[in-house]
Amino acid sequence: MTLKKGLLPLIIGSVMMVAAPAYAAVTMKLSHNHNRNHPVQKAMEQMASRAKELSDGNLVIRIYPDAQLGDQRESLELVQNGALAMAKSNAAELEAFAKNYGAFNMPYLFTDREHYYRAMLSESGKSILQSSRPNGFIGLTYYDAGSRSFYAKKAINSPDDLKGLKVRVQPSPSAVEMIKLLGGNPTPLAYGELYTALQQGVVDAAENNLTALTLNRHGEVTKFYSVDEHTSIPDVLVISAKVWDGLSEKDQKALQQAADESMMFMKDLWAKSDAEEKVKAEKMGVQFIYPKKASFQQAVQPMYDGLQKSNPEVYQLVDSMKKL
Ligand code: GCU
Repeated sequence: MTLKKGLLPLIIGSVMMVAAPAYAAVTMKLSHNHNRNHPVQKAMEQMASRAKELSDGNLVIRIYPDAQLGDQRESLELVQNGALAMAKSNAAELEAFAKNYGAFNMPYLFTDREHYYRAMLSESGKSILQSSRPNGFIGLTYYDAGSRSFYAKKAINSPDDLKGLKVRVQPSPSAVEMIKLLGGNPTPLAYGELYTALQQGVVDAAENNLTALTLNRHGEVTKFYSVDEHTSIPDVLVISAKVWDGLSEKDQKALQQAADESMMFMKDLWAKSDAEEKVKAEKMGVQFIYPKKASFQQAVQPMYDGLQKSNPEVYQLVDSMKKL
């Protein structure tokens, strides 16, 4: 995988020329579960093209969208053993693999979008990306994934409206706990199974950012989107620790820089996409409601006390991010 560049001597007639350096490109596959129209695909295309440029053509990243190489869990497992180089997942899914990512899954952690960015760019944010090395992967960067709210066939105005509802969650311990505290029945499912689950009534509700309604067409099987904005959980670009360790120092730097730049590229993309997807969702017939957040906030408060006792290390990260 790590082929060193060298100089290719060419003998032309009696003249020995030293041609341009010969590269053996490092090709890396990147798996994710969104489609080609999702802003994260565009951010990662930008990342791939910058990585190529900054590594003088050495790093070639091929992006496989639509969970073609497996859902998020399957892709992560392949990344862990080095069979797949890279994947784009999110902090909720990653919490099941490396607990520190769970810090981002705490409800109502950030006061606004700038706070969310300060946290992702902070020392705590960076330490979370590195914390998964013993689990076989390293986080390269975060991507904005907006905030998550509930959607269902009925309006969710307060936690009372979630009572008895089967709410799809990601396979994340924090998400499960949050839904329980809000009175719903958490039902972990892979993202790719959710459209049919909503359509067939296997689950009654779900929660996500707006792209779920439009780019994943959940707006076709949902009537209301209740903007309670309970979490802001970033997407995360990860690389197999084995693959990373096999890259030259120059390529590591190039890849890290490309990833950092793409995070900021995504910041603008996301802001635009959020506004556009809302208009599209309304056109699909989804009604937006704006419940008061206080009752949701109050109901999930025990998560903070619980975390302080059960996991002081993650609590420390949460606490430091909260204060930023
Ligand atoms: C977001 C996130 C995905 C994740 C999905 C989910 O869309 O970007 O990475 O799979 O939420 O709810 O499963």
